[in-house]
Amino acid sequence: MPVRPCDGSDIEKLASLAHAAFEETVDHEPLGLWTRKISSIINGKYGTFLPTASFMADATAGQLAGVVLATNFLFYRGPVIALIAVHPCAQGAGLGTYLLRSCVNALSVEGFTVCRARISPGNDVSKRLFQRNAFVLRELWVG
Ligand SMILES: CC(C)(COP(=O)(O)OP(=O)(O)OC[C@H]1O[C@@H](n2cnc3c(N)ncnc32)[C@H](O)[C@@H]1OP(=O)(O)O)[C@@H](O)C(=O)NCCC(=O)NCCS
Repeated sequence: MPVRPCDGSDIEKLASLAHAAFEETVDHEPLGLWTRKISSIINGKYGTFLPTASFMADATAGQLAGVVLATNFLFYRGPVIALIAVHPCAQGAGLGTYLLRSCVNALSVEGFTVCRARISPGNDVSKRLFQRNAFVLRELWVG
């Protein structure tokens, strides 16, 4: 499956992918909200978008199979996986792992030594993906 850098120019396709990928998860949102959220990621609301560490995989018929978007977010004191999503038709075949590793490798080449991600409680597939790729779980206390 061809994987290429993601410059964030195709927000509608990215939103459609995220909508499908998250539909059966605790993080599901309507399509319009994904469009706004992805625009915000690309436009810097969650830190500077890092196109050189962001990748997407093409499926057939002009659709996307997967994406990882990275930002450099002061709030998290460094780079963050702002979005990782694989279309349900392509899940479980290693694409999420490949995208995550491509992103972390690119960040490392750019000199970053840490990378963070926020996982919602109950998103166990996501937790497993990150833990299997050397991320360490930390509880986030709010209040
Ligand atoms: C999380 C996600 C990106 C993983 O993508 P993927 O291409 O399926 O991942 P991989 O095939 O590389 O598999 C990663 C691990 O998850 C497991 N997995 C994948 N799909 C699964 C499923 N539907 N149910 C249970 N486990 C699953 C794999 O077995 C693998 O575990 P292993 O390494 O112990 O074998 C994908 O499931 C997804 O888009 N989920 C919805 C969006 C989401 O939650 N994003 C993360 C937000 S922080």
